[in-house]
Amino acid sequence: MDLIFASNNKHKIKEINNILGNSFRLLSLSDVNIDEDIAENETTLEGNALAKARYVHEATGMDVFADDTGLEVEALGGRPGVHSARFAGENKNSDANIDKLLLLLEGKSNRNARFRTVIALILNGTEYLFEGIVNGSIIDEKRGSQGFGYDPVFIPENRGLTFAEMDLDAKNRISHRARAFEKLRAFLVQKEIPEK
Ligand code: IMP
Repeated sequence: MDLIFASNNKHKIKEINNILGNSFRLLSLSDVNIDEDIAENETTLEGNALAKARYVHEATGMDVFADDTGLEVEALGGRPGVHSARFAGENKNSDANIDKLLLLLEGKSNRNARFRTVIALILNGTEYLFEGIVNGSIIDEKRGSQGFGYDPVFIPENRGLTFAEMDLDAKNRISHRARAFEKLRAFLVQKEIPEK
């Protein structure tokens, strides 16, 4: 079964290929000759994921899914949320994003936060949404050098290490993205069983 993942991020595509297994041939945006950056102007993760999936579905007529992720911090009313990548500016600088986050949390005792991934799937013209969440907290200094984004300041619930101190396999076993994609995989596998 051919399925487009509305992304050109090779690392993500490889990671998702591992999760989805052999029943699916995953195509990237460049595989279907879509080279432009698809706009992410919506105000929610769901809105952005759906907008990307719809854009690609309209352009190709094919089955497609798209994802969007945000860090939601309780004491900041859910910010940076849908603005996580560009929290400190258009150049998507992770260090600047973390610095801004730590500044806003200075002196705050509530450090609860969560990563949330939303996947929008369009299959045979019908839209579906899947969600993956990992709860945790924000520490007040960076620790670790693995991963990306906000990983150095995020400690998942019931763990002592930041995401940036874990190896990739350990992070992928519990991450928001892995949880959302596992739901997508389970759904697609069940859809593949022919009706009797
Ligand atoms: P995207 O929707 O996957 O592009 O994620 C948007 C932004 O959320 C990224 O640019 C990062 O700042 C942040 N983010 C997403 N996933 C992670 C993660 O696993 N660790 C740390 N930051 C993340």
